Amino acid sequence: MTSNPVIELFNDQNKQFVKVCAPMVRYSKLQFRKLIRMYDCDLCFTPMIMADSYVKSIKAREHEFTIDTNDRPLIVQFGANNASDFVNASNLIITHCDGVDLNCGCPQRWALNDGYGAQLLKNPEIIKDCVRQFRNRIPSNKTISVKLRLLDDHRKSVDLCQKVEAAGVSFITVHGRKTLQKNDPIDQECIKLINESVNVPVILNGDVKNLSDAIAMQKYTGCKGVMSARGILHNPGLFAGHNSTPLSAVQEWLNIHHTNFLWFHHHLVFMCENLLPKNIRKKFNQLRKASDVVSFLEDQFHIPNVLQSNRTLGKVPSGTSGAYYQNVSEKETILSQCEDVMEGICLFDS
Ligand SMILES: Cc1cc2nc3c(=O)[nH]c(=O)nc-3n(C[C@H](O)[C@H](O)[C@H](O)COP(=O)(O)O)c2cc1C
Repeated sequence: MTSNPVIELFNDQNKQFVKVCAPMVRYSKLQFRKLIRMYDCDLCFTPMIMADSYVKSIKAREHEFTIDTNDRPLIVQFGANNASDFVNASNLIITHCDGVDLNCGCPQRWALNDGYGAQLLKNPEIIKDCVRQFRNRIPSNKTISVKLRLLDDHRKSVDLCQKVEAAGVSFITVHGRKTLQKNDPIDQECIKLINESVNVPVILNGDVKNLSDAIAMQKYTGCKGVMSARGILHNPGLFAGHNSTPLSAVQEWLNIHHTNFLWFHHHLVFMCENLLPKNIRKKFNQLRKASDVVSFLEDQFHIPNVLQSNRTLGKVPSGTSGAYYQNVSEKETILSQCEDVMEGICLFDS
């Protein structure tokens, strides 16, 4: 493969390991990626985008992916149940990212019923087909990867990863749980075994809540990368070694331009969970207007009121931020499985 920033990261001898933000439906969007890149996150994944919708619908393309030339290195993750959708969607997006990933881990009912996500673990031929067709049709300087869960036993998991490697993946992300596991501890032993059984870089995933976890798990498994989802959502400074959200990250979040109140607020709810007592959090979580959120943060943390200083959210015409929330119907978002995604938050948020 010719030069690719993701491969360069894995090959960087000065790095102990590559620090990776997980794909998270609704949350690993451009604004959040901008924030965590300020705190030592090396590589970001987009939320899962449904490949078939992305190919068919202009609206999906408009809503699901925002191009920003500074937002690199970047992996776009697709949900697909066949190679044709996967590669057609990849083709449309490939010049705006460094690689594409296939979701082989989503455990939600709709995904399993329709042959997406973790259901693909039972159909390795489809995974291999996606990888091979990607390799045949997409420029060779882009990565192709899969993010998967574990199978019933270690041998089957290793076997699958070796098959996927033989098909031509650039790297593999392993979430150390089986499809139906939610809160069980991750199987580091199996991740270690997989890492020792393939030659491509492996990113470990699951239960990384702070930098010490990341260092310890990386040391144990020997993986080249460590990925966090819930940990980094609750503490965007995780990879920079902060044990809870640094106030500077809250400030930076306000400085970023937001277009959707719901996401703007949700992220702050996560970030502030370890900074505020329960009774105060409850009030914060109920706020419905950007101006109220900003005033609240000003009171609690003495963070300058960005609306008054006419930055970021100030760019939303004054007085519209509350109304904006009302107008942005969740149902308009393109993921046709939006309701499932709402369900999924509880499910993923195990
Ligand atoms: C809100 C949320 C959304 C998620 N969306 C995706 C997704 O789009 N694609 C994916 O492969 N995994 C998704 N996941 C799973 C995570 O990427 C990760 O594999 C899982 O949460 C375990 O990592 P953690 O213990 O660091 O949270 C999501 C998880 C959460 C919490």
